[in-house]
Amino acid sequence: MTQLTWLVTGCSSGFGEKFILDILSRRDKAIATSRGPVSRIQKLKDVGASTYSLDITAPKTEVDAVMSLIIQENGGIDVLVNNAGYVENGIFEEVSCETILAQYETNVFGSIKATQALLPHFRQKRSGTVVFIGSMGGWYGVPSGVPYVSSKFALEGFHECLSASVAHLGIKSIIFEPGFFRTQVFHPDNTKYQPSDIGDYDALRAETTQFLQGIQGSQTGDPKKGIKVMIDVVKGEGVAAGKAMPERMPVGADALGAIRKKCEDTLAICKEWEEVITSTDFE
Ligand SMILES: NC(=O)c1ccc[n+]([C@@H]2O[C@H](COP(=O)([O-])OP(=O)(O)OC[C@H]3O[C@@H](n4cnc5c(N)ncnc54)[C@H](OP(=O)(O)O)[C@@H]3O)[C@@H](O)[C@H]2O)c1
Repeated sequence: MTQLTWLVTGCSSGFGEKFILDILSRRDKAIATSRGPVSRIQKLKDVGASTYSLDITAPKTEVDAVMSLIIQENGGIDVLVNNAGYVENGIFEEVSCETILAQYETNVFGSIKATQALLPHFRQKRSGTVVFIGSMGGWYGVPSGVPYVSSKFALEGFHECLSASVAHLGIKSIIFEPGFFRTQVFHPDNTKYQPSDIGDYDALRAETTQFLQGIQGSQTGDPKKGIKVMIDVVKGEGVAAGKAMPERMPVGADALGAIRKKCEDTLAICKEWEEVITSTDFE
């Protein structure tokens, strides 16, 4: 199997850290980035990763410059994993556009900037894989998850457009859609929820707070297993041996259930309304 060089964003905890450890265990080359000082990911350097400070919310010119340096110092990159992200909650009527924009700066625009910075390199060598870490949350709306959920919906669209525009250049894109995995994503220091005061939403807000307090540490997904599957799928080995890489993949039983239900519900709408839907064309 060819040795690949992977660049993963957001490596100081959770999926990012596990990606790097699994990549190294396969004797591939791992480049770990963190938005903070590289000392935050020193333990990954200690086990063999190259480490860089990369804030994907920085201006595009800065992201481009760091990426160029990384490509130059590491002799190229084969796989980019757009992993960095966090959860910002909020109810539609209460959440400000500034809060949504801040969420998008990391979850959406950061991934776009990192990917755009690498595409010239991938085009030049006519190969490369872009991995987006979406979410099962990118498939269905919830009452109080507007910034996060919509950011993951957006990633789905960006991924599909990217994929359609670079396939002829030998470049691939995949989006993984994990369910709940036991990382730091719902740690109270990481998950944000702006206080608000519209009484009609008190019950929904209380429900969300209760959910967030209960979920951290009791998620059903094992990140180590999830990462192993994702890397197998990108490399076409292990559980994915002999299979073509799909354009998207739910990860975890909860994600499968939720995404399958959304597909079935949508198909049921298409079936029930087919005559009406198709009645709008010119005669
Ligand atoms: N765990 C789940 O249940 C789950 C489910 C679906 C999707 N995901 C997605 O998986 C990705 C990784 O999350 P995780 O579960 O591994 O959570 P995590 O342990 O909290 O790790 C997220 C990483 O993102 C980076 N990051 C960049 N900007 C950030 C910001 N403004 N605020 C907080 N973190 C920021 C951080 O790394 P640095 O500080 O090193 O940059 C952090 O280590 C995210 O995109 C998340 O949306 C997770």
